[in-house]
Parts: sequence; structure tokens; C-alpha cells
Amino acid sequence: MTFQEPKTSKPFLETLAGKKQPVPPLWLMRQAGRYLPEYRQVRAQAGDFKTMVYTPKLACEVTLQPIRRYGFDAAILFSDILTVPEAMGRHVAFEAGHGPQLEPLEKLSDLDESSTENIFTPVYEAVAAIKKQLLAEGFTHTALIGFAGSPWTVACYMVEGSGSKEFSRTRTMAWQKPDMFAELIDRLTAITIQYLSKQIEAGAECVQLFDSWAGLLPEPQFRRWVIEPTRKIVSALRQSHPHIPVIGFPRQAGLFYIDYIRETGVTAVGLDTQVPLTWAAKNLQTLCPVQGNLDPFVLQAGGDALLTAAADILENLGHAPFVFNLGHGVNKETNPDHVAALVNFIRAPHSARIVSDG
Ligand code: CP3
Repeated sequence: MTFQEPKTSKPFLETLAGKKQPVPPLWLMRQAGRYLPEYRQVRAQAGDFKTMVYTPKLACEVTLQPIRRYGFDAAILFSDILTVPEAMGRHVAFEAGHGPQLEPLEKLSDLDESSTENIFTPVYEAVAAIKKQLLAEGFTHTALIGFAGSPWTVACYMVEGSGSKEFSRTRTMAWQKPDMFAELIDRLTAITIQYLSKQIEAGAECVQLFDSWAGLLPEPQFRRWVIEPTRKIVSALRQSHPHIPVIGFPRQAGLFYIDYIRETGVTAVGLDTQVPLTWAAKNLQTLCPVQGNLDPFVLQAGGDALLTAAADILENLGHAPFVFNLGHGVNKETNPDHVAALVNFIRAPHSARIVSDG
């Protein structure tokens, strides 16, 4: 299926191409989710989260919800990073209040990649449906982001079997069985390249790699399990889809952000909440466009604290290519009015100046 895409410029894509915009483009990680009453309604009708992820019509609907409400500059495919373990034959259950649950992976012979495409097909269909719906509703300036977890972060959930503070099982395995772990990472790298390529072919105009647990690794391992697989993914996508930007989000990578940018070749990086703004402007934004990094808890808090924190970010990062975002996903307790206040503030740069001077 082909449809004619109007030749309008999209501020989000322009920024990633290195062209600073007068008002920075804005989207929020987890912008579709439980803080929105219209999301909770669809979720209640669907019954569970996985039904939403694997039903293109529902995934499309909830992806559009925050765009209709706030007019964000980018829509992100509604899905989850744990579709990849499922495509490798590992069942994932999302239990209310417990987060994702998997059977911890012990040996590679427990992987089964025979139905990969069956699992991924509805995701690609969702991408195509979202692309079409954005145009149908007149969101011609809104870019569509596809995504995957990075191999390291996805391996964390596969080996641990759930979320965790420490991921001790995974980190021990990475030291104790490096050959097995390397093969797991290689297989995840290959499937991620295929998954993102097909999201792009279905209509994604940018992809983001979520590496939520990058910050757990010491230097040699950060290079081996984070930088190296990311470099392979970026270089494969550059070959097959040279014009598609790739955003890397190596959460809590600290000083490694610099080598991550230099060595992986990502187009841009997402900054977590802890990256100091003046340091990022000097050391990262001189290398590539940056995205971030408002604390989701100040968004939850709202009021003057929210506007002051947003102004500080604009003041420090607004002078070079920059995408406004959070430093991690929207909390489910967030009042949707606070998001509206943030969007109004970012789009009124004059008021930003009043707050920061005052
Ligand atoms: O950003 C978006 O709006 C796109 C959708 C998206 C979701 N998950 C939807 C979701 C994206 C990009 C993700 C990525 C994801 N998933 C990450 C990386 C980013 C991060 O948060 O660090 C991780 C680690 C996961 C794994 C995952 N999925 C966890 C830990 C959970 C439970 C979290 C919780 O708050 O309960 C999920 C479930 C999930 N993924 C929800 C949503 C909206 C909540 C599901 C629901 O109950 O409705």
C-alpha cells in the first residue's frame, strides 16, 4: 500500500537533522498511558495490556490519544520492548502491580525463533495504521517514532525474569558465562535490526533504542554489551535506511554518554534526568542533537516547580538542536493538566524567558 505523503517539514525530524528550531519540538516518553482517562477506558475494554499491543486498531487508537490532546511533535508507536522476547519464544505476562513477568532464561536452547514474524506482524500493521491515521486527522507535522529495547536491556528482562533494582542474575551471568551471554546479545542484535527495519518500512520516520539499564555496567562491559551491539544496529540501519534518524537512550550512562555518541554513531541521544544541563550542552550537544530530560516527578508535582525546571532546560539546551522530553517515562499518577501546562509553556518561549529571569 502506498499513499502520497505531503511534503511538509516536521520540526522533530528537522531537529534530528541538525537544524535548531525556534521552538523546540516536544514529545514525552510514555505519553500514551495510564495517566490519561481515555487510555484507561480503552485498556478496560481491551481487558489487558498485551491485547492492546497486539491489536493494531487499539494500538493505533492509544498512540493517537496524546497527539489529539496535546499536539505533540512526535507520536511513538504504542507497544513494548518485551515483544522481542516473545518473538524469541519467551512468554511475557504483564500482571497489574507487578510489571512484566517472564520465565528466567537459563540456556539458549530455550529460545525459539520460529514464529518471530507472527509475533511482529501486528506491530508492523499498527505502525502502518498510525501513519495513515495521523494523516487522516491532519497531523501533518507529527513524526512517527518506532522503537525497540536495546539488546542489553531486553536481555536483563529475559535473564532476570522481571524488573529489578539490581538485575543481579543477569549481571552475574554476563561475567560468568560470557560466551553464552555474547550469543544472546548477538541474537538480540540481529532480531532488533530486522524488527526496526520493518517498522521503518511500515512507516516509522525515526527509531529510538531504549537502554533503560545501561547504567548498571562498568567500563569493559558497557563497551561490550551496550556500545558494541548499538553500533551494529545503527550501522545496519544506516545501510538499509540511510535517512532514518536513530535516537539512543542509554539511561544513567553518566560519563559514558560521550563514548556512546562517538562510537555508536547514533543520530541523537536521550538524556536521563541526572545528566547535568551545562555539562550536556558543552560535551554532548556539540556532538549531536540531544533530547530530554525533565524529571517525571516535577511533571507530576506541577505548579511553579514544573515551569522553573522546564525553563532551566530550555535555557541550557535551547541554543542548539534540541528535542524537549522527559528524562524517563510519564508517571501514571500525573495529572493530565500538568502536561497541558508544560506544552503551553514550551510553546510560549516568551514566558520561558520571564520565568528564567525572575
Ligand atoms: O512511550 C510510549 O508511550 C510508547 C509505549 C511504551 C511502553 N513501554 C508502553 C507501556 C514504550 C516505549 C515502552 C518501553 C519500555 N517497556 C521500557 C523502556 C523504557 C523505560 O520505561 O525504561 C521498558 C523497561 C519496558 C518494560 C515494561 N513494560 C515495564 C517495566 C512495564 C511496567 C511498567 C508499569 O508502569 O507498570 C511495562 C508495561 C507498559 N508498557 C505500560 C505501558 C503504557 C503499562 C501497561 C498498562 O498497565 O497499561
